Amino acid sequence: MKRFEQRRVLVTGAGSGIGRAIVLRLLAEGATVVGMSRTGDGLTKTEQLALDQGDGDRLTVAVLDISDEAAVAHTVPAAIAGIGGLDVLVNAAGIVRMSHTHETGTELWNTVLGTNLTGSFLVTRTALPALLDSGRGVVVNISSNAASYAAPYRAAYAASKGGLEALTRVLALEYSKRNLRAVCVSPGGIETAMTYSLLDVPPDIDPGLLSKMAPAIGPLLGAPEMVAGVVAMVASDDGEFITGTTIHVDGGAHI
Ligand SMILES: NC(=O)c1ccc[n+]([C@@H]2O[C@H](COP(=O)([O-])OP(=O)(O)OC[C@H]3O[C@@H](n4cnc5c(N)ncnc54)[C@H](O)[C@@H]3O)[C@@H](O)[C@H]2O)c1
Repeated sequence: MKRFEQRRVLVTGAGSGIGRAIVLRLLAEGATVVGMSRTGDGLTKTEQLALDQGDGDRLTVAVLDISDEAAVAHTVPAAIAGIGGLDVLVNAAGIVRMSHTHETGTELWNTVLGTNLTGSFLVTRTALPALLDSGRGVVVNISSNAASYAAPYRAAYAASKGGLEALTRVLALEYSKRNLRAVCVSPGGIETAMTYSLLDVPPDIDPGLLSKMAPAIGPLLGAPEMVAGVVAMVASDDGEFITGTTIHVDGGAHI
């Protein structure tokens, strides 16, 4: 399938996990991609994997901290200009922190919201003119089950993803007459570095509360490629009648 030939795509969080899998999937389907991440190390690996699958000539990368407004204002337009416009934006960059809510400091709260919600907003705001120029623009925001179902010890994370889903609905309606679609893809537990960081739990948690989000089918943790395949569908013309909603990729963890 080559659903992304002649499509220009920007993916944040492209240096690992789900963002990297999305980059590789969209490249395989013919896209021209700019991958961004906070540090260069992971991007180098993503570039190597793209070369290995024979698509390296259609990938460029850029280091960007999406929570840095000035950096976004500079780096995102330059990247879009480099690929001659933009048809698809995937906001996959994100962080999670575990803490008891009554012990959650303002710094932790602001850091998580500043990346997952404000950072995704900043990139989207900057990319919107190019996405609207495209005439078939799509924004895919990577949310989380934590936005829809209780995620104990992750208050800031859950709030950030809930905000991202609300932002997605606003975009979908506000720009609907300009043929822009906006969709959230909401994973459950996926095997990435982020998931393993959750093993660093605060003391005195009740592990039983965490098990509520276990999937009903398949493995305990999904693979990043399972999310990437759904993002590819949503961002392609196969998703042309999907906007302003959230698609869960969680093995039925919410049933
Ligand atoms: N892994 C899961 O179980 C899971 C579940 C639900 C949602 N998600 C979401 O999927 C997305 C990808 O996460 P992942 O699981 O691949 O984790 P990951 O840690 O492997 O990848 C996160 C990526 O985001 C980048 N990033 C973090 N902060 C950034 C910043 N300020 N600026 C730019 N880039 C930044 C990192 O460099 C990394 O490349 C996140 O938005 C996460 O919330 C993950």
